[in-house]
Amino acid sequence: MSLTLTTAGESHGPALVAILSGLPAGLVLDREAIDRDLHRRQQGYGRSPRQQLESDVVEVLAGLRHGRTLGTPLALVVRNRDHKNWTWGMSPWPPEGDPEGKGTKPVTLPRPGHADLAGALKYGLDDVRDALERASARQTAVSVAAGAVCKTLLREIGVEVEGSVVGLEELPARVDEARQDRDTVGGVVEVRARGVVPGLGSYAAKEERLDARLAAALMGIQAVKGVEIGEGFALAAKRGSEAHDEILPGLVRETNRAGGIEAGVSNGEEIRVRAGMKPLPTLMRPLRSVDLATGEPGEALVERSDTAAVEALAVVAEAAVAFELARAAREKFGGDALGDFVGAWRAYVDRIAWQTR
Ligand SMILES: Cc1cc2nc3c(=O)[nH]c(=O)nc-3n(C[C@H](O)[C@H](O)[C@H](O)COP(=O)(O)O)c2cc1C
Repeated sequence: MSLTLTTAGESHGPALVAILSGLPAGLVLDREAIDRDLHRRQQGYGRSPRQQLESDVVEVLAGLRHGRTLGTPLALVVRNRDHKNWTWGMSPWPPEGDPEGKGTKPVTLPRPGHADLAGALKYGLDDVRDALERASARQTAVSVAAGAVCKTLLREIGVEVEGSVVGLEELPARVDEARQDRDTVGGVVEVRARGVVPGLGSYAAKEERLDARLAAALMGIQAVKGVEIGEGFALAAKRGSEAHDEILPGLVRETNRAGGIEAGVSNGEEIRVRAGMKPLPTLMRPLRSVDLATGEPGEALVERSDTAAVEALAVVAEAAVAFELARAAREKFGGDALGDFVGAWRAYVDRIAWQTR
């Protein structure tokens, strides 16, 4: 049984959509819990006024009846409220009537650090907007909705996933300084998953490794440039005797430097992963660029943008980890009905005599 997630949607288009396939039937979803995560993604120090404009809520188009999953593809939609200002500029079909002014001028000054230049060259675009609309992290809203569903599934097998910012206290100070300078900042987030049984993922093939899958999921998020599992890079400087987690009677560990994964397989300890986010590439004091229409030097596009989105990244990373853990759990425990899935998990927990902590 495999869990898959497909998303579509542009930043200022009508809506973002996600199809989550491979859920068992009978999982009770809570609309408020999904909307709560959408709300969390929009919070945080350093966000732009767009977040006040967008008040995200989930709509479900398929796969759910009376609050229970049907075991069929779950189709989720998050509408872009800002689309009302872009009905001409982002019209899926050739628009009729006069442009409303907004979102109509072609963008030809690519922002360093964004998808603009690479996207324009790759797809042969005259208007960089055709690249930046999809590359934008607005897409993460619907991934967070899907992640909230995955967290609901994981709770059925005793797993809790939580993302947070590393060094939140010093982040607001850095944001304040950067905002004054019309600059941007990045930061580091951590996701922890408690209650994951030993045995998710596999060492049999590299694409089955849980660490590789989590790393790919986190790297798949916009602006993430580094990922660590457990103590990650710090382990490289340690001796083996200080780097590994000794196994004590009762199969318990006193340390968790491995971040809950050994040989690509969860080991029953808390899963800990970190992601490093670069400073956001849209600057209010723009960097140098070149006008793609004229070849003349200029300044990169300035568009309403966040100073920092590290707190949002914590929520997005939490959703990405939840999806990967749910995917690995679906592979291991299968089942068309929720009871089959939970029953297989329970039988496995009994076989290995593992206590959920
Ligand atoms: C939650 C979140 C919000 C973001 N908000 C912005 C933003 O407001 N302005 C911006 O320039 N980049 C923002 N980004 C980062 C860009 O989307 C990202 O840097 C860009 O797509 C280029 O991709 P890359 O950084 O992975 O190379 C955000 C990223 C995340 C995860």
